[in-house]
Amino acid sequence: MSTAAAPARQLDPGSTAEINQAARALLAEFGTSATSPRLLERVAGTAASLGDGVRHHCRPVDTEDGLFVLRGLTVDDASAGPTPAGWASAGDSGAVHDLTLLLLATVMGNPIAWEGQQNGRFVHNIVPSPGHEAEQTGASSSVLLSPHTEDAFHPGRAHLLMLGCMRNHDRIATTAASIRRVRLSDEDVALLSRPVLPILPDDAYAQAQGYADEAPVPVPVLHTADEGLTLRFDPAYTPLEQAGEDWRAAYGRLEDELARVATAVSLDPGEVLVVDNDLVVHGRVPFTARYDGTDRWLKRASVRVPGRATRPPAEDAEHGYGQQALEAHVR
Ligand SMILES: [Fe+2]
Repeated sequence: MSTAAAPARQLDPGSTAEINQAARALLAEFGTSATSPRLLERVAGTAASLGDGVRHHCRPVDTEDGLFVLRGLTVDDASAGPTPAGWASAGDSGAVHDLTLLLLATVMGNPIAWEGQQNGRFVHNIVPSPGHEAEQTGASSSVLLSPHTEDAFHPGRAHLLMLGCMRNHDRIATTAASIRRVRLSDEDVALLSRPVLPILPDDAYAQAQGYADEAPVPVPVLHTADEGLTLRFDPAYTPLEQAGEDWRAAYGRLEDELARVATAVSLDPGEVLVVDNDLVVHGRVPFTARYDGTDRWLKRASVRVPGRATRPPAEDAEHGYGQQALEAHVR
């Protein structure tokens, strides 16, 4: 896997100061990063008042890598407090960084949350959690988190995924692979552009267990948008054994290509990885969690970009397995 440096955008000190001050003012006013309609409204107003420097650094992903690392923000390790033992106990840990991420997400588009994930919070804590080591969710550690599209099962999934680093003493890498870097034959692209198999909700959706009521919807893996190929990919939640041999072989070649072009991004505290969720699949290398308050800790935000035409129109009719994406701002 390549460890070539990911494209970076360095915030200037003025923009950094502006973001920090805005996040601190929001926390002082609300005392929590738990989202209420009033907080979201205030975030929207504050985000709209941020200067051109911040806005410029938050412009759309503009390389074939489909991602960038935003640099310049900082996290003070001591005042961040210990890495929470799980999202459920994280509460307001690192709350000012939640608000920082929410502000940046709002500059980039419309942040979303899920009723069935992390109590509907708009910024999630990604920390290893005892008992979940081998899952294919962000709470895992000991297994390779295989490359996937975030919330691939749902038509309301994010266009952009943001991972803000709070702590990463062991420099555990996030992996990323862009569909724009793979080489596939026209035949394979045609095969994988057909809706053959469904993608089912992942284990992080506690309330989705009742989705048996909803008939699984076959969806295409690849889509040719005006701007180029996009993908929707989550092998761990795709019943691959139900497909024919030719299709499975093409899917295998796509997996191999994604592995070939994958890069490893190891984030430092304060850095924010922004991934285009229509171009890039992301994952994580395995690691051994210590559960002593010093484990890797990321903040995650998901963003919809209004008007983005990167997906097949047929997605609009999907039921989403009873899950509802909550959008922060009505535009
Ligand atoms: Fe993910």
